[in-house]
Amino acid sequence: MTFQITVQPSGHQFSCEEDETVLAAAMRAGVGLPYGCKNGACSSCRGKVVSGSVTHKPHQERALSKEDEAKGYSLFCCAIAHEDLVIEAREVAGSDDYPIRKMPSRVATLEKVAPDVVVMTLQLPANETLKFRAGQYIEFMLRDGKRRSYSLASPPDQDQPLALHIRHMPGGLFTDQVFSTMKERDILRFEGPMGTFFVREDSDKPMVLLASGTGFAPIKAIVEHLRAQNSTRPMTLYWGGRRPQDLYMDALCRQWEAILPNFTYVPVISAALPEENWRGRTGFVHAAVMADLPDLSGHQVYACGAPLMVESAKRDFAALCGLPEDEFFADAFTTEADINK
Ligand code: FES
Repeated sequence: MTFQITVQPSGHQFSCEEDETVLAAAMRAGVGLPYGCKNGACSSCRGKVVSGSVTHKPHQERALSKEDEAKGYSLFCCAIAHEDLVIEAREVAGSDDYPIRKMPSRVATLEKVAPDVVVMTLQLPANETLKFRAGQYIEFMLRDGKRRSYSLASPPDQDQPLALHIRHMPGGLFTDQVFSTMKERDILRFEGPMGTFFVREDSDKPMVLLASGTGFAPIKAIVEHLRAQNSTRPMTLYWGGRRPQDLYMDALCRQWEAILPNFTYVPVISAALPEENWRGRTGFVHAAVMADLPDLSGHQVYACGAPLMVESAKRDFAALCGLPEDEFFADAFTTEADINK
């Protein structure tokens, strides 16, 4: 059975099979609903069901509570339609400009840049390139049918290998392999590009770039992309970690700050050891933003990292700093049990 889905306010329509999610049907039809994890964890795909009924596949309570579900809110990546629907969702222009492809790749290099972080570069088959937007991610397709998602840390502009920043999650199916047996020239299949976390180039608002840990990866792609475009848009990067070693490309950020007049870098550490002699900012990284920029009403914010950081930033920036809700773009890592970005 097929149902008709109508999106408000755009009026776009698409059909949805009874066994597919509303998001999957939208992606198939080229309708740009926002999404991140596709797994019920990040809440990027959250919208409202105005009429019709859906049931939700398993998802995280923090992404959609029972109370919110009762009020008509929905996670479209988990929503199965049972009749024709009218939904309310903010569409993302340009999200389907580059087709999602399945490709083989070879591990070109594996470089340990911190005790628990590896930078992996991938080589594509001869004459193949991947077109994507700065900030998007790819999904590795593992042998057992599972998938693991990683943001692309390399910008889309240059002819250079795709780069990913991979944090070791002990006991994690994929990252244990990356940190033990994986070697150069191993073959990995992936699907991408995915996600609607990418830089909105139609805006000239100053940008706050907010990252925790390896959430720096898509932020790096965004900075390098805007640099390649000779953009003069002001960018302030707040990069948070527990320990100084978590800011594994600190030197690169300082280099950007030295050569890019429109770029400012604020490293923030929450749990430095005394012997590390950390002299910089301390505490929660999103709190540092609020201390420096109490009025965010004229900014855009791009946040990537731990869900708690992303959720706190979204809530507090809107409630306390006047950031318009539709100027906050985020890619929250889901848990290890879901997808590790
Ligand atoms: S919760 Fe739906 S895309 Fe993440």
